[in-house]
Amino acid sequence: MFWANKTKLLALLVLPFLTFLLFQPFYHPNHSPGLIRKSSRKHVLILSSWRSGSSFVGQLFSQHPDVFYLMEPAWHVWTNLSSGSAGQLQMAVRDLVRSVFLCDMGVFDAYMAQDSSLFQWHTSRALCSPPACHLFNREAIIPSANCRTLCDKQPFSTIEEVCRSYSHVVIKEVRFFSLKPLHPLLTDPSLNLKIIHLIRDPRAMFRSRQNTEQDLMNDSHIVMGKQWKTIKKEDHPYYMMKIICQSHKEIYEAAQLLPDSLRERYLLIRYEDLVQDPLTQTAKLYEFAGLPFLPHLQIWVHNITQGKGMGKHPFDTDSRNARNISQAWRWSLPHDKVVKLQKICNDTMDLMGYLPVLSEEDQRNLSVGSFYP
Ligand SMILES: *[C@@H]1O[C@H](CO)[C@@H](O)[C@H](O)[C@H]1NC(C)=O
Ligand SMILES: *[C@@H]1O[C@H](CO)[C@@H](O)[C@H](O)[C@H]1NC(C)=O
Ligand SMILES: *[C@@H]1O[C@H](CO)[C@@H](O)[C@H](O)[C@H]1NC(C)=O
Ligand SMILES: *[C@@H]1O[C@H](CO)[C@@H](O)[C@H](O)[C@H]1NC(C)=O
Ligand SMILES: *[C@@H]1O[C@H](CO)[C@@H](O)[C@H](O)[C@H]1NC(C)=O
Ligand SMILES: *[C@@H]1O[C@H](CO)[C@@H](O)[C@H](O)[C@H]1NC(C)=O
Repeated sequence: MFWANKTKLLALLVLPFLTFLLFQPFYHPNHSPGLIRKSSRKHVLILSSWRSGSSFVGQLFSQHPDVFYLMEPAWHVWTNLSSGSAGQLQMAVRDLVRSVFLCDMGVFDAYMAQDSSLFQWHTSRALCSPPACHLFNREAIIPSANCRTLCDKQPFSTIEEVCRSYSHVVIKEVRFFSLKPLHPLLTDPSLNLKIIHLIRDPRAMFRSRQNTEQDLMNDSHIVMGKQWKTIKKEDHPYYMMKIICQSHKEIYEAAQLLPDSLRERYLLIRYEDLVQDPLTQTAKLYEFAGLPFLPHLQIWVHNITQGKGMGKHPFDTDSRNARNISQAWRWSLPHDKVVKLQKICNDTMDLMGYLPVLSEEDQRNLSVGSFYP
């Protein structure tokens, strides 16, 4: 008994070391320049909600030459298991995200037919440059529209190799409604995870959702679960916002309760602050992720936030003046809807520093602030 245990213990101690010795040369940058050492890879999860500027933030990372980026990989989970509710699917979503972070792309087999392509693959600069696509170079800014027309939409065979050639893996997801399923990933020794929690004024989100209602319908169905049938159709948008606001509050509060060592792996950012001062905020995001803010990226961020375009489709990054867009709800939403939303999202807005507008005049008057600076 005693010896058996001791041998087991010895094996447990020695095996990882042997494995390390055995595989070490393959991961060492000096021996194999194409591969990044597994243990030094950093992982960033952009945790957000629909219409919160998360595609924009995703692009800030995707265009960085050190980053392998995927937008919404869990779209495949929700699309394949569309009869489930968000709660039922959250562990599958979590496990998929973990696998992608580890560059284990076999996980998609469970959710995708053989001949289908990865959702929004062309928004990943890494999948538009070598070794996935040889028409662009890795250091270039690659607009997704150019990539979609010029690169092969089946970079699937190379995707693991592509992923392993980067020092950072960044994923954007809107399909988490709580920090709980992510807790094990924060403490997972095979990961080095940081979470960027991106929030946006619920009134702006609501307005933007109105314009893309059809695109969001399948997702809304999964978010609302059984309530989809019981709640009146005209109340669906408000019910959605209630769930979304509640989830942001929960995530934020749960993050404050993390022990210090994990607390520093969480960063909250408001979309409004990002569009007011894109260069400073982007610098903050890169620093948090451990990425250098390269000169060509500084010029590019300046360019795109001054309204020099990227695309018009709702899932593309906004080409219009982002600062103006972030205030568009003030003249395009009727005041009664704003009042209703302010009630529904009261706690979350208070917590995140969004100020209620108390009259229609205040709502239309852009000199009246709608968030704490
Ligand atoms: C779900 O994924 C499987 C592959 O695992 C695929 O055969 C099937 O067509 C997918 N179904 C849907 C609805 O996407
Ligand atoms: C919603 O789901 C239906 C049925 O699965 C599908 O045909 C449709 O394309 C989906 N709509 C969107 C916008 O994804
Ligand atoms: C920035 O915009 C200028 C003027 O439109 C353009 O010439 C330049 O290539 C752009 N640079 C980047 C990195 O986007
Ligand atoms: C913002 O856009 C709206 C509508 O497109 C326009 O009426 C308004 O003048 C713009 N404001 C600024 C400050 O650009
Ligand atoms: C939330 O409700 C409290 C109490 O009625 C009020 O003082 C506060 O301004 C409200 N906040 C928002 C964002 O509506
Ligand atoms: C807009 O708000 C500012 C600041 O509260 C105020 O000084 C100004 O008179 C308002 N303008 C209008 C047209 O009501």
